[in-house]
Amino acid sequence: MRIILLGPPGAGKGTQAQFISKKFDIPQISTGDMLRAAIKEGSELGRKAQDVMKAGGLVSDDLIINLVKERIAKPDCVNGCIFDGFPRTIPQAQALADAGVEIDNVVEIRVPDDEIVQRLSGRRQHPGSGRVYHLQHNPPKNEGLDDVTGEELIQRDDDKEEVIRERLATYHEQTSTLVGFYQDKAKESGAAPHYHQFDGTQGIETVKEQILSALD
Ligand code: AP5
Ligand code: MG
Repeated sequence: MRIILLGPPGAGKGTQAQFISKKFDIPQISTGDMLRAAIKEGSELGRKAQDVMKAGGLVSDDLIINLVKERIAKPDCVNGCIFDGFPRTIPQAQALADAGVEIDNVVEIRVPDDEIVQRLSGRRQHPGSGRVYHLQHNPPKNEGLDDVTGEELIQRDDDKEEVIRERLATYHEQTSTLVGFYQDKAKESGAAPHYHQFDGTQGIETVKEQILSALD
């Protein structure tokens, strides 16, 4: 089972990836989380990615494609994986296809731009695991602390209003074209990848139930 989660920043890809990961016992591959870990480590990849991410742009296709290729070669991906935030450009999608990586389901979560700015300013994240919370919509059990580890939650550097607007612009310019790309693929083949669209303005639990039942 290989799944791509598609949608603008703040649509709920990370939130829903965790539910899917649990249900189907496959790992979540978030290129954003991997890049943030690289920045924290101070690795070469992190140094290359840092400024672009702060500005709300996209890290180069070459770097991302190598990162994903290495990740999916790990043993925990034998039964599949969830791509969260990848691919984000046509060359990335093409690289996946050229590498013979078949996708079973594409899950698009739709949320209008206006709602996203409000949403992302209330997000808090556990940096170690990538678990996400929201001050109003999904608060942690203890304020400011991760439910599982009890460690401190942080606010992401790129969750400032001006960067959120840049990320949205980047999504509309470079990533939203993948909607048509995968819809066409689904139509052409009549089989995999199946394309599913969800209204991400509904509550987290409602979106979860709809996605899990579609994937079942
Ligand atoms: P990445 O980390 O992937 O960020 P993103 O795509 O901007 O998406 P987010 O993680 O912000 O949102 P999400 O959809 O996961 O929403 P979440 O579940 O957290 O990428 C960061 C950067 O890395 C990029 O800008 C780029 O520079 C670089 N990068 C990454 N991948 C790349 C690639 N492939 N190529 C090139 N560059 C790449 O939810 C958001 C908030 O809303 C949370 O607080 C959550 O609790 C809440 N929430 C979720 N669902 C709901 C709901 N239904 N109702 C109410 N609140 C909700
Ligand atoms: Mg995310």
